[in-house]
Amino acid sequence: MIRSLGVGLAGFGTVGAGVFESLQKQQKLIEERSGFSFQVRGIAIRDPQKQRKQFLPPSLLRRSWRDLLRDPHTQIVVELMGGTTDAFELIKGALQSRRIVVTGNKALLAERGEEIFALAQEFRTPVFYEAAVAGGIPIIQSLRDSFVSNHIESIHGILNGTTNYILSCMQEEGMEYNQALDQAKALGYVEADPTLDLSGWDAAHKALILAALAYGFWVSPQDIRVEGIEKVSAADILFAKNFGYTIKLLARIRASSDGIIEIGVSPTLIPMKSILASVSGVFNAIAIKGDLVGESLFYGRGAGARPTASSVIGDLVTAAQNFHLHLSSERTSCPIGFSSHTLYGKSRLAEEIISSYYLRFTVEDQPGVLSMITTIFGQYGISISSLVQPESRVDRKTSLVFMIHRAPYGLIQSALEQVRTLSCVKSEPILFNVEM
Ligand code: HSE
Repeated sequence: MIRSLGVGLAGFGTVGAGVFESLQKQQKLIEERSGFSFQVRGIAIRDPQKQRKQFLPPSLLRRSWRDLLRDPHTQIVVELMGGTTDAFELIKGALQSRRIVVTGNKALLAERGEEIFALAQEFRTPVFYEAAVAGGIPIIQSLRDSFVSNHIESIHGILNGTTNYILSCMQEEGMEYNQALDQAKALGYVEADPTLDLSGWDAAHKALILAALAYGFWVSPQDIRVEGIEKVSAADILFAKNFGYTIKLLARIRASSDGIIEIGVSPTLIPMKSILASVSGVFNAIAIKGDLVGESLFYGRGAGARPTASSVIGDLVTAAQNFHLHLSSERTSCPIGFSSHTLYGKSRLAEEIISSYYLRFTVEDQPGVLSMITTIFGQYGISISSLVQPESRVDRKTSLVFMIHRAPYGLIQSALEQVRTLSCVKSEPILFNVEM
């Protein structure tokens, strides 16, 4: 017997339209595999005049997301409208009216996940969000359910396809940053507003969600170090290559031996021979290390209508499976999509996180420059593991490129403050993390 559930869809952009289309195209398959059928009962959009690639049946069009909550036959609300204000109100209204929520909104979960799951707990109504991290890769369910018996030691992720495409073009075709960005734009890989992608914040939102799932509490976005790829140049890619590394925008999440959680997102040198180094183009990948499972790798498309729809529809089926439990008197046992726990609870300040580094200065090529810089390093107890200075041929300027042994980020920053005061240093130092 096929059971039918009503769905209210908020947002009809790439992902919303992809979900609507996929629900129709794969209807028979979904019904036969899951035993559920999903009826889209209304689609709320912000701008009815907007030209859309996908046909939106006029009978389903709703002018406001509030209309979705007025329909008594809508049991699941799918929030794909983005933003953090109306989307929050919609999710809150859905939970208060005991409608299950499916969302792909990473920024909202990263910023207000704690509030959302407090509401989910209060109304014993779940929120599912597979589409919020790494598009089509089933990482949320894996981390939350499949790896539930693991202490998660670390998560390393390439969580943004746009920036991975740009860095891959720089790495593989020797392009400069702007040239690679233009190519990504021409191919439609860049969002209308690319700020979140390029600044690292899209990946950071996803990292905060993964960290919350792994460690059972929400770290505030303000407390983590996030850097984008804007400062990566073709020169850095080449120097890194000569040291045996490639540069990726890497999300690093780990629990240190004292149980404190470390999270950071920044351009990072990773060894050429590591698996993540081979993740090229718009693809995402996530490497998880758990104490039982050991190392596990997830790879796939992190964006796009169909991969993301695949995750949203997976959540719809999970929602449907939970639906009767959620309405029954047994509902205290209904999972709400996130479990807080008491094993962890603290995150380390960015300045205290220890890493190895790549550091490049543009300097005047004259006597004493190297010793002035290395003297400052020595005063701060910073140890150099490798050093390169290419022969200067023009304008008596050159690069000094250091690989630095493990040190707290704050210590490196203090040393750099002093290096910046040297008149022989001619540009802002370039600093990236290095993962071994
Ligand atoms: N713009 C993102 C990316 C997908 O390039 O991976 C949505 O988070």
